[in-house]
Amino acid sequence: MDLKSLIRNIPDFPKPGIVFRDITTLLRDREGLRFAIDAMAQTCQAWEPEFIVGMESRGFMFGVPLAYQLGVGFIPVRKPGKLPADCHSVEYDLEYGSDRLDMHKDALDPGHRVVVVDDLIATGGTAKATADLLERAGAHVAGFCFAVELCELGGREKLPSNVPIVSLVQY
Ligand code: PRP
Ligand code: HPA
Repeated sequence: MDLKSLIRNIPDFPKPGIVFRDITTLLRDREGLRFAIDAMAQTCQAWEPEFIVGMESRGFMFGVPLAYQLGVGFIPVRKPGKLPADCHSVEYDLEYGSDRLDMHKDALDPGHRVVVVDDLIATGGTAKATADLLERAGAHVAGFCFAVELCELGGREKLPSNVPIVSLVQY
């Protein structure tokens, strides 16, 4: 299936000169949604995760159905101030300023095998911060899986070189 044809291109969003790759049109297409989750599941199954880790908010849209399909649990990585129990926190740089991601300390035990899932990798800052959170927890990252990769931004170069990284659609 041609997943790229289901992803809408929005010029000049969120600012002039950026072409925004909009995955809402893929999610609303029942065959596209099923195909994307099945394709992710096929890839991720081989990595034998015990948990899927997904990043707020669009990472949840792919991560939860993927975890359901694989028959494993889902762990949310959230923006600051959203998770109620004790958290590991990692600050990371944005184009202007910085942001933070949190994950519950008791979500994972050292040695747990996880796969990180998000809708899209751009600069890789979000995925790298998530990898850092998982290192804090002592978890083992068995792979990264993205629906979309914006290749020219070089995000995968920020991630550990010994961990497989798969994307379904590349721009
Ligand atoms: C987007 C996207 C990824 C991240 C990719 O999330 O869903 O998580 O940016 O960019 P990066 O590789 O440069 O870090 P966003 O922060 O816009 O939040 P959202 O999912 O809530 O829309
Ligand atoms: N599309 C969706 N999310 C994004 C993009 C994009 O082009 N760039 C950074 N996050």
